[in-house]
Amino acid sequence: MKTINIGIIGYGVVGAGVATLLTQKKELLEARTGAILNLKTIADIDITTDRGVELGNTALVNDALDVINDPDIDIVVELVGGDTIAKQFTLKALEKGKHVVTANKALLAGHGNELVKTARKNQVDLAFEASCGGCMPIIKSLRESLVANNILSMSAILNGTCNYILTKISQDGSLFEEALKDAQKLGFAEAEPSLDVDGHDTAHKLAILNSLAHGMEINLKDIHVEGIRNITPVDIEFAKSFGYTIKLLAIGKVHEDHVEARVHPTMISNANPLSHVDHSMNAIAIDADATGKTMLYGHGAGMMPTASAVLSDIADIARNIIFNTARRVPILGYPEDNIKKIPILPMDELYTRYYLRFEAQDHPGVLSQISGILGENNISIKSVHQKGRQSNGKVPVVMITHLAKEEWVQKALTKISATDSVVGDPIVIRIEEDA
Ligand code: HSE
Repeated sequence: MKTINIGIIGYGVVGAGVATLLTQKKELLEARTGAILNLKTIADIDITTDRGVELGNTALVNDALDVINDPDIDIVVELVGGDTIAKQFTLKALEKGKHVVTANKALLAGHGNELVKTARKNQVDLAFEASCGGCMPIIKSLRESLVANNILSMSAILNGTCNYILTKISQDGSLFEEALKDAQKLGFAEAEPSLDVDGHDTAHKLAILNSLAHGMEINLKDIHVEGIRNITPVDIEFAKSFGYTIKLLAIGKVHEDHVEARVHPTMISNANPLSHVDHSMNAIAIDADATGKTMLYGHGAGMMPTASAVLSDIADIARNIIFNTARRVPILGYPEDNIKKIPILPMDELYTRYYLRFEAQDHPGVLSQISGILGENNISIKSVHQKGRQSNGKVPVVMITHLAKEEWVQKALTKISATDSVVGDPIVIRIEEDA
C-alpha cells in the first residue's frame, strides 16, 4: 500500500483533532483510501503541551519550514489561522510542490485568487472543505455534486458564535456580552471576537462560496457586511410577534450580469427551516435550477467536526496521488481560465423589505412625520406596530415596509434621524422572503 506523508502546521484544537483522526482512524482511512496516511511531522511554537493524542512516530518540531522543506511530505495541512504568517507558509508549501489543505477562511477570502494561481503554477492541489460550515460538505457539494446546476441563490448561517448569541438572547433572554462569553468558553468564537460578531467571518465564508457557486474570482471587499451588535431583545420580541426569527445570514443570489452578496441580521419567517437552526449549528439552503432547494445542516466549528472536513480533503488528495494525478477537481470548481470577475450588486441598489424600529417621542404628529418622510422617499409601509411608553418616556415604533430600495431607505432614515421625533439611530433589519 502506498504511504502518503502528511505534515501539519499549527497544533491547536483543530490540529489535535486532525492528528487524533489520523491516528485513531488509521485502519478505516486505509480501507477507504487504499493508502497509508502517515502523519510524519507536526510543527507548532508550543510542542510541549500535552494535547492528549497518541502520536507514535510523528515528529514534533518548532519550525514550519521543517514541514514545508521536507521532500518526503506530500500534503501540508495549514492550521495556523489568520492571513499573515499562514499566507507565507501556504505560498511556500505550494511553491515547494506540496498539496495544501487549509481550514483558513480569512486566508482564502483575502488571498485565495493568488493562492489558486500559485497552486496552478506548481500543479498542486489546494483544498479547503473545513473553511466554510465546519463538517457540512458544502465545498464538495458546490464543486462536485451540483456540477450540472446553475446556483440561483444561497442563504446560510455560517457563524456559530453569532447563531449561539442570537439563540441565547431569544430563548433565555441572555445579554449579548454574557452569550458571547459563553461562546468563547465553548471554544467556537474566534480569538478576535469582532470577526464573529461584526459579520466578517461570515463574509469570508460567503466570498469563498460565491466563487464556487458562480465561477467568479473570490471577492471579499464588495460584500456588504453587518454584524449583530445592534440586535436587542426588543427586536427579537417584535420578530417573534410577527412569526419571524432574526438570524445573521450570508445571502448570495445570482442575477443576469451580477451577484448579490451580503451579510446582515435578517428576519426570516418561522416557516423557513433556517429559522430553526439554533445554538452554534450552521446550515445552508441552496436553490439550484436542476435540484431545486437543498439544505445542509451541521456543526460549523469544533475540534472533531472541523477535523473531519480536513480529513475529507486529505483523503481526496491521497486518492489522486494513488492514481498519479492532481488537480482533477478545479480548486474553485471551474478551471482557472473559466473564472470570471462578476460584479457584486452595490448595496444601495438592493430591493428588499425592511423592519425599521424607531425610539419615538410620545407626542402627537410623530408617527405622521416618520411615515411622511418614508412616503416622500417612495417607501410604502405595510404595517405599523407600537409598544407602550418605556421608562425613558420613549415609545418603540416599528414599521414594516413593502419592497423598497436600500438607497431610498437610507436617505429617509438620515432625514428621520435629524428630526426631533426620534432619538438615536433607527434599527434596520432586512426581511428575506422564504428560502
Ligand atoms: N468562529 C467561527 C464560528 C468558527 O463561530 O462559527 C468556525 O469558522
